[in-house]
Amino acid sequence: MQRILVVDDAPVNRELLKDMLEVDYIVELAENGEEAVSKLQVYQYEIAAILLDLQMPKMDGFAVVEEMERCGWLSNIPVLVISGEQATETENRCFEMGVSDFIHKPFDMTIVRNRIKNAVELFNYKNKLEQQVERQTQRLHRQYRIIQMQSEKLKEGRPFNDLMMQYQSAIMEVETKLRILNAEFSMQYNRNPFESIKSRLKSPESIYEKLTRKGLPATVENIKEKLADVAGVRVICSFPDDIYRLVELFIRQDDIILLKKKDYIKSPKSNGYRSLHIIIEIPIFLSSEKIYRKVEVQFRTIAMDFWASLEHKLKYKKDVQNAEEIVKKLKACADSIEMLDYQMQEVRNEIDRAKE
Ligand code: GTP
Ligand code: MG
Repeated sequence: MQRILVVDDAPVNRELLKDMLEVDYIVELAENGEEAVSKLQVYQYEIAAILLDLQMPKMDGFAVVEEMERCGWLSNIPVLVISGEQATETENRCFEMGVSDFIHKPFDMTIVRNRIKNAVELFNYKNKLEQQVERQTQRLHRQYRIIQMQSEKLKEGRPFNDLMMQYQSAIMEVETKLRILNAEFSMQYNRNPFESIKSRLKSPESIYEKLTRKGLPATVENIKEKLADVAGVRVICSFPDDIYRLVELFIRQDDIILLKKKDYIKSPKSNGYRSLHIIIEIPIFLSSEKIYRKVEVQFRTIAMDFWASLEHKLKYKKDVQNAEEIVKKLKACADSIEMLDYQMQEVRNEIDRAKE
């Protein structure tokens, strides 16, 4: 049962109200303002409503309301004034001070009971909502502190830098494997299957940009799981058939996991782009563990590489004049390059046969 404080200097009124309210509430009585404030100090968290007379000795009803406002109680406890005052100004003044309701004497029992019930329910609901908001605010504060701590950690960069070191190691592993194949191949066929290797680690800015473009938060976990081209190796070969031979030997190695293969040599892109792309996972051995990291390896001929770097420039230049014309010419160049690559390969075959 909730507590109701009845404040009135007339004993008859106190008794009448007490009798009526006792059924539903624990009733506290005060015969003047001072007593009311003392009771409030004791029961501030338990009192569900106050029935307050205005004219009282020692401390009147207005002073009680002022004191309640000062102590911060007024926003949590509804005050219902019961007064013989008929002046509208008095009533208005009460409402301006923050009183919830004004009941005129002589009062009707049923009306008083209903108005109290309404006020108590409203304030219970309001107080509950406020508590919920308070709890949620505190939870948000805690979450915010956690996020702050996490972003600080990320800025410190330890896990990020560790990851970049791992990708750099993965690039070194790939390069070493390819160089070993190159050495063996050159012993066997007396020529190198590739001309050069270019490697690059994706910059933090483009990592961030790509993740954001995909609608993903920039976390170490997302970099590992959602990006395949943080570590990039480009292998430039002389002849198309060397590309296939090299890729075959490379992905056949039992510690390499082939995740994806895109053959833009057999199926060129509409702009004329030709290259063979593979996404692999390669193990790297750290002091305490073996972990797999993804590497994107692109294979293309010298001529295709030449073409791709020129075409790349077009892509990143905005407002190029005659862009359509240039696209057409690039496509024509790509077709010529394909012809040239296979013609060169054919010439090489003839030379090889002549040597035998
Ligand atoms: P990205 O998200 O751009 O990496 O593309 P993707 O995930 O669809 O992979 P895809 O294998 O198609 O391309 C991978 C990379 O190959 C690109 O990042 C470029 O470096 C290169 N590339 C692909 N298409 C073209 C092209 O049309 N022109 C040029 N110059 N490079 C290309
Ligand atoms: Mg890419």
